[in-house]
Amino acid sequence: MENRFNTIAGWVLFSGIVALGLSSLSSHYFRADKAERPETMGYAIAGVSSGGAAVAAVPLEALLAKADPAKGQAVFQKCASCHTATQGGANGIGPNLYAVVGDSIAQGRGGFAFSDGLKKHAGKWDFKTLDAWLTSPAAFAAGTKMTFAGLDDAQDRANVIVYLNSLGSNVALPPVPAAGAAPAAGAAPAVAAGDPAKGKAVFAKCGACHTNNPGGANGIGPNLAKIVGDDVGKGRGGFAFSDGLAKLGGKWDEAKLDKWLANPRDMVSGTKMTFAGLDNAQDRADLIAYLKAN
Ligand code: HEC
Ligand code: HEC
Repeated sequence: MENRFNTIAGWVLFSGIVALGLSSLSSHYFRADKAERPETMGYAIAGVSSGGAAVAAVPLEALLAKADPAKGQAVFQKCASCHTATQGGANGIGPNLYAVVGDSIAQGRGGFAFSDGLKKHAGKWDFKTLDAWLTSPAAFAAGTKMTFAGLDDAQDRANVIVYLNSLGSNVALPPVPAAGAAPAAGAAPAVAAGDPAKGKAVFAKCGACHTNNPGGANGIGPNLAKIVGDDVGKGRGGFAFSDGLAKLGGKWDEAKLDKWLANPRDMVSGTKMTFAGLDNAQDRADLIAYLKAN
C-alpha cells in the first residue's frame, strides 16, 4: 500500500514538473509572458512588415538628426565592459573607441589585435557602416571578435553613434533626405487628394484584421464601418480595445487617422494593433478617402 502511495505521489510530482517545464518552455518560446510584440511575428500577414523592417524604413539620416548623445552615453553602458571611448583610454577586450567615427576600420587603435574578418573590411567607419556593424557585428564581419549580439533598436544605434561622434570625431551628420523623412523633419511631401478606389486596394493590408462593411464582424481588430468621425477606441460592438487607445479619447478625424496609420505604436504605445504602419503618405490619404466613402 505504502509502495503504491509513493508511486502515485511520484507520478503526481513528475507530471507537475513536466507541466512546469512545458509552461516555462512555451512562455519562453511564445513570449506569452511579455506584453510586447515578439521580435519575429509568429505568422506573416501579406503586406504587413514586422517591426524591425518598419524601424529600418525611417532613414538613418533622420534617426541621426534626432539622435541624442546623452542617450547614446547611456546606451554605451552596453559597450563599456569591453570598450573605453575617452582620449588615450586603454584597450580592453575591445579597442579604445576615441575618434572612431571617420577613422579606418580595424586599424591602429594602439596595436589592437583585430580579427581577420574585420580587417578584411577596408574603408572607414562612417555613419552607415557603424549602423550596420552595431546592428549585427557578426553579420557585418564574419568571424569578428566582437561577441556582442547587436542593438536592435535603430534609434539606440543612432544615439550611440552620435555619442561616439562627439568624442574626438565631430564628423558632420549626413543631410536628411527630403522624401520619407517627413515625420521627423515635419516637412510633409505634397499629397494629392485621396482616391477611394486606390484606397480600396491599400485596404487589402488591413483585411487580415479588419472588416469595414456595416455590421461586419470584429476580428483581430474592430470592424471599421463609418470610422471617420467616430469615437476613438470605443464602441465597435464591444471590441476589447487596449487601454492606450481607449484612453486617447476624441474622434477619428482625418489628421488623427493619418498619424495612426503612419505608425500606430508611435501614436499609442501599447496598442494591440500590431501593424507597422504605412510609410507612403499618398497610400494613407487614399485609404482614408476609402474609409470615408464606406
Ligand atoms: C563583449 C565585448 C564587446 C562589447 C560588449 C562591445 N564590443 Fe565593440 N569590439 C569588441 C572587440 C573584441 C572588437 C574587435 C573586433 C574584431 O577585431 O573583429 C570590437 C570592435 C569595435 C569597433 C571597431 C573598432 C575599429 O577600430 O575598427 C567598434 C566601432 C565597436 N566595437 C563599437 C562597439 C559599440 C558601440 C558597442 C556597444 C553598443 C560595442 N562595441 C560592444 C568587443 C566588444
Ligand atoms: C495585425 C492586425 C491588424 C492590421 C493588419 C491592421 N489593424 Fe487596425 N487594429 C487592429 C487592432 C488589434 C486594433 C485595436 C487597437 C487597440 O485596441 O489598441 C486596431 C484598431 C484600428 C483602428 C481604431 C478603431 C477604433 O475604433 O478606434 C483603426 C482606425 C484601424 N485599426 C485601422 C486600420 C487600417 C486602416 C489598417 C490597414 C492599413 C489596419 N488597421 C491594419 C489590428 C490590425
